[in-house]
Amino acid sequence: MLRSLLVLNSSPRPNGNSTALAETAAAAARSAGAEVELVHLSRLVIGPCEACDACVGSGRCVMEDDMQTLYPRLLNAGALLLASPIYWFTFNAQLKLCIDRWYALFQIPGKPFRNKPAGFILTYGDVDPYISGAVNAIHTFQTMFHFLDMPIRGMVYATASNPGDVQKNADLMEQAAELGRKLILD
Ligand SMILES: Cc1cc2nc3c(=O)[nH]c(=O)nc-3n(C[C@H](O)[C@H](O)[C@H](O)COP(=O)(O)O)c2cc1C
Repeated sequence: MLRSLLVLNSSPRPNGNSTALAETAAAAARSAGAEVELVHLSRLVIGPCEACDACVGSGRCVMEDDMQTLYPRLLNAGALLLASPIYWFTFNAQLKLCIDRWYALFQIPGKPFRNKPAGFILTYGDVDPYISGAVNAIHTFQTMFHFLDMPIRGMVYATASNPGDVQKNADLMEQAAELGRKLILD
């Protein structure tokens, strides 16, 4: 039985590098037979968590924006893949806004993402994952997925600056496809 896969891509560039890798992972999982949804976060309206704590006890966020359509998809997904460019030495604000809003889901007993396999994709301009800040994002994701009880099935991270760069790296594209396939296996 294959898991369904939800891919959240936070790059605002439709022809960008994170987008291309996210699309490659999604296509590979779909070709293997899984139900896959790819969401481009920058096309959604997602406001910042206001820490109003209205969700405490209900698990329901009261902010009426596109997170309301994303919450059920997050809860129902069999596996989760995050893709982000590095902006200012970590993953970008588009993704952080979305993740902060997961807070609501943890205001009721239980861990709703428990045992969902997770993966992530990062691209950055610098040649070094330390200088670029990719390591900061990796560390945050590791801490976060550990807290969420989500096993990390893999990570793909690479230097890529201009649109089209990742397509020149066949090995990297294959790593993204492989990550997509790994995430859907039970
Ligand atoms: C606002 C902004 C901040 C950035 N900050 C960094 C950074 O801190 N480190 C880095 O290596 N590259 C940085 N970059 C370069 C991007 O990570 C790089 O171009 C990446 O390929 C963009 O991903 P995309 O093609 O998926 O949009 C930044 C780019 C932008 C637009």
